[in-house]
Amino acid sequence: MKKIAVFTSGGDSPGMNACLRAVVRTAIFHKIDVVGIVHGYDGMIKDEFIEMDASSVANIIHRGGTILKTARSKEFMTLEGQKKAMVNLLKHGIDGVVAIGGDGTFKGALEFSKMCKIPFVGCPGTIDNDLVGTDFTIGYDTAINTVVEAVDKIRDTAESHDRLFFVEVMGRDAGLIALRAGIGVGAESILMPETKTDIEDLIKRLENGRKNKSSKIIIVAEGDEAGGAFAIAEKVKKRLPEYDTRVTILGHIQRGGNPSAMDRVNSSRMGFAAVEALMNGEKNSMIGIVDKNIKYTPFENAVKHIQELNPDLMRMVDILSL
Ligand code: F6P
Repeated sequence: MKKIAVFTSGGDSPGMNACLRAVVRTAIFHKIDVVGIVHGYDGMIKDEFIEMDASSVANIIHRGGTILKTARSKEFMTLEGQKKAMVNLLKHGIDGVVAIGGDGTFKGALEFSKMCKIPFVGCPGTIDNDLVGTDFTIGYDTAINTVVEAVDKIRDTAESHDRLFFVEVMGRDAGLIALRAGIGVGAESILMPETKTDIEDLIKRLENGRKNKSSKIIIVAEGDEAGGAFAIAEKVKKRLPEYDTRVTILGHIQRGGNPSAMDRVNSSRMGFAAVEALMNGEKNSMIGIVDKNIKYTPFENAVKHIQELNPDLMRMVDILSL
């Protein structure tokens, strides 16, 4: 390994900068040249390569977003786009690549590996926590803390007005933000794509809940199969018109902000491990942290989405929300 490239791709997540910093500084320590690719796969196609040194990543460990910018590249999904990307990697003499991103990023890398033999190693950067092979993805901890902070505020006003709130959180395909943030705010119910949402059951729970409760908060993952928070609230309102119901969509606020301490530490560990993995001949695998230890998972397994929800957590949610 004489020269590596690093890029961020897909939806940004707090901690991507900390990960990038770790990649650059670890590479420099091992006397490996490092270039950053701006705008993810799009930048690989359009030749947006920039030299990086230790000071290019100074003062970024605490910043949300990604200084390398990011994109969801349509062109990279085409053979033509991939050919251009490969030509640029070869032109810059790249021996290995660190991809910081989520599911789409690793699926792209896997597809690309059929044509391009330059090894790729991934760091899991997504707030959704929907990758197999790591306990927590980069940005997940910060995102759930953002949700908790926002919903605590909603709880105050919900309590004052005796209202029922439906709060929609991110997670197109996964409900893990909803699950942990929902536990953290003491939600009355958590609706996720992984579990079947039964509106009748939800109505029953609301009717049978403790009578002296003045506020009720239902957390809805955006990908829930019963629809988003507005659609579900509409259905419930029709059946329970006596409730004063409101809907809040938290949206992209969940993707920004300074990374939490946990995200900074995990990102640093994963960026550091990614460079050493490339040096050890690893390819097409994602770095993760499982039970506090670094683990490599092949991209094809990492993107499988089979996140079994912990049944103990699910049982606890029901009991604690009485
Ligand atoms: O993948 C992360 C994520 O934040 C999802 O939770 C969400 O559905 C999606 O990105 C939103 O993407 P965009 O910013 O492109 O609208």
